[in-house]
Amino acid sequence: MPGAVRILGAGAMGRLWAGYLPAGAAAFVQRPHTVPHPIDYQFCDLNGHHRRVTVADARDVTGTPEVLLVMTKAQDTQAAVAAHLPDLPPEVPVVLFQNGMGCQQAIARRWPERPVCAASTTEGAHRPDDQLTVHAGAGHTWVGAMTPTAHQQLSRVIRVLAASTRPVDCEPQILQRLWNKLIINAGINPFTALLDCPNGALPEQDYYRRHIDPLCLELHWLMEAEGLASPGPQQMRAQIETIARATANNSSSMRSDVARKRPTEIDYINGYVWRRGEELGLSLPVNRMLTEQVTALSATC
Ligand SMILES: NC(=O)c1ccc[n+]([C@@H]2O[C@H](COP(=O)([O-])OP(=O)(O)OC[C@H]3O[C@@H](n4cnc5c(N)ncnc54)[C@H](OP(=O)(O)O)[C@@H]3O)[C@@H](O)[C@H]2O)c1
Repeated sequence: MPGAVRILGAGAMGRLWAGYLPAGAAAFVQRPHTVPHPIDYQFCDLNGHHRRVTVADARDVTGTPEVLLVMTKAQDTQAAVAAHLPDLPPEVPVVLFQNGMGCQQAIARRWPERPVCAASTTEGAHRPDDQLTVHAGAGHTWVGAMTPTAHQQLSRVIRVLAASTRPVDCEPQILQRLWNKLIINAGINPFTALLDCPNGALPEQDYYRRHIDPLCLELHWLMEAEGLASPGPQQMRAQIETIARATANNSSSMRSDVARKRPTEIDYINGYVWRRGEELGLSLPVNRMLTEQVTALSATC
């Protein structure tokens, strides 16, 4: 059915998936009160081939969607989902693609009867300008259930996403998977934003070297308190630095957001760790300091 895959968030991720799904399969859910209009853009795939993609506005398509993919930034997600959910039949699965942690749990808590899934993806996309979306890094996507009814919908979600030809798998331990990515984001994003450096420069920076071991220890304490399998602080640091070096020329999304004077996802990365720690009676001062410094930096930009 045309427009059966509804995508909320026509940014880099939304356009990446719309670019790979079969022609006509995706439709963008736009902000309410905007005039319905299709979105047109150039899509550059992993081989550097450009093609034009046109995606319908969800208000211009009929029929019940198969799935809602939510590809807004973490801080926009609750409001965006709340605005759209009344229009969505209760059995339609909602798949949350946000980095970091906190908005997945908040949405699952708020709509416990809904099939809510979380996705963790290592695909990388960016938009150098409004007309162009670039698939910058080949990755893999894992999807897992966040609410009881989501379990029955997982195979449907995987089938819909796999039509893109991108690799997608079911993940029974989705929280562990999200945490593994949170460790990397918590160790790279705030430092690259504060130091205004590409990922590869991080391991040599004094500020990073001063704080990375206590940061990893705090992540380890929180994972243990949550009953999750922690790789241990030393292994965390090794993983962070391996990724930083493997993506040496990349600018993290947080550094880019600060440079573009856009809100960052810090509250869902180090901010989540600090506040979740407080809820569990843990003091996690390095995560708190990084959250406050990135917040202050964004405010002055
Ligand atoms: N890009 C990547 O490579 C990548 C990789 C892994 C995970 N992720 C995660 O995926 C999520 C999206 O990232 P992104 O890079 O695609 O961000 P992005 O380029 O900023 O796209 C987010 C989109 O959501 C739209 N939006 C916000 N609120 C909305 C609402 N209420 N209704 C409709 N649209 C709304 C924004 O519109 P406006 O521009 O008008 O505000 C924007 O087009 C983030 O959590 C990110 O961490 C991204």
